[in-house]
Amino acid sequence: MLESLAQLESEGLASLVAAKDAAGLEAWRLSYLGPSGKLKAAMGDFAKLPKEQKAAGGARMNAVRAALEAAFAERKGALGANDPSPETVDLTEPGFVTSTGLGRRHIITRVREELCEVFARMGFEVADGPELEDDEHNFARLNIPAEHPARDPIDNFYVDDPRKVSTPRMLRSQTSTVQIRVMEAAVKAGGGQLRAPIKIVAPGRVYRPDTVDATHSFMFHQIEGLYIDRAVTMADLKTTLVQFAQAYFGEDSEIRLRPSFFPFTEPSAELDMKIRFRADQPAKWVELGGCGMVHPNVLQGCGINPEEWQGFAFGFGIERIAMKRYEIPDIRMLFENDIRFLSQL
Ligand code: DAH
Repeated sequence: MLESLAQLESEGLASLVAAKDAAGLEAWRLSYLGPSGKLKAAMGDFAKLPKEQKAAGGARMNAVRAALEAAFAERKGALGANDPSPETVDLTEPGFVTSTGLGRRHIITRVREELCEVFARMGFEVADGPELEDDEHNFARLNIPAEHPARDPIDNFYVDDPRKVSTPRMLRSQTSTVQIRVMEAAVKAGGGQLRAPIKIVAPGRVYRPDTVDATHSFMFHQIEGLYIDRAVTMADLKTTLVQFAQAYFGEDSEIRLRPSFFPFTEPSAELDMKIRFRADQPAKWVELGGCGMVHPNVLQGCGINPEEWQGFAFGFGIERIAMKRYEIPDIRMLFENDIRFLSQL
């Protein structure tokens, strides 16, 4: 027993030198000092010792354990010097010296939210509609006839083949689709009678297979407005747009309506706003989109009696506003997600 303890001690001390890192040390500790280790096994021999030898055997065993533990602690300390363990971290060091930077919402998201907020103050609720639409809502119900050039498959992202499917699905090319969805829902909610008034804005993505350049993208954002009530006139439309322009772009903003044509409004107008983007520069006219009085055919198509109800609608591009406001020269910059660009806005 005493010889085998001596052997265990010398082997243990020798093999400890071979432990070169934390994993090696731990393997050694388990092998010698662990609950199924060699020292524990030697205890079995101790139990078999004759009574008179027990005192000497026990003392020797304790001495071997103490020697191995001390050697282990020393070796651990020596290795630890090159291997900073949590105990050696300097808690007085300043923390978080390297910042990953705060995130922010995309400029288009922010402009969209600002626009909705301004319209919300004027009583408009935010409405939503699907981006995957059908040509019924994108065209037919908006009074855009079957032969209208805007429906050309070349100019639209059809998902179904329009020659084979009667109501082909497509990515919506304008947020005007939401006008139809909202009017349908309001008539349904009233059990066939329009639940009025309707006063909504609908921001969202639209898709057109345009060749991408500095001012065109195959995906961009529009915000649509719709107000349906009794005795709504073109004067209400103009007032609303003036109030919007002044609330969003500043007190000295002006608007201009130029006669135009859209199938879903009559009369229709092109909407320009005179906006001062910088204090040190004169205000500039910017073409923002279109507007007009909702066409009787559109109302009728949704089950709304145009003799009883009138409405106005408008739609404009969100990128245009963001680009003018922040002097962004190329629409592609908005979608490349280059953090060096986005973090400047
Ligand atoms: N949807 C039209 C477009 O994408 C814009 C527009 C014009 C929307 C007139 C309207 C409107 O609501 O009344 O070019």
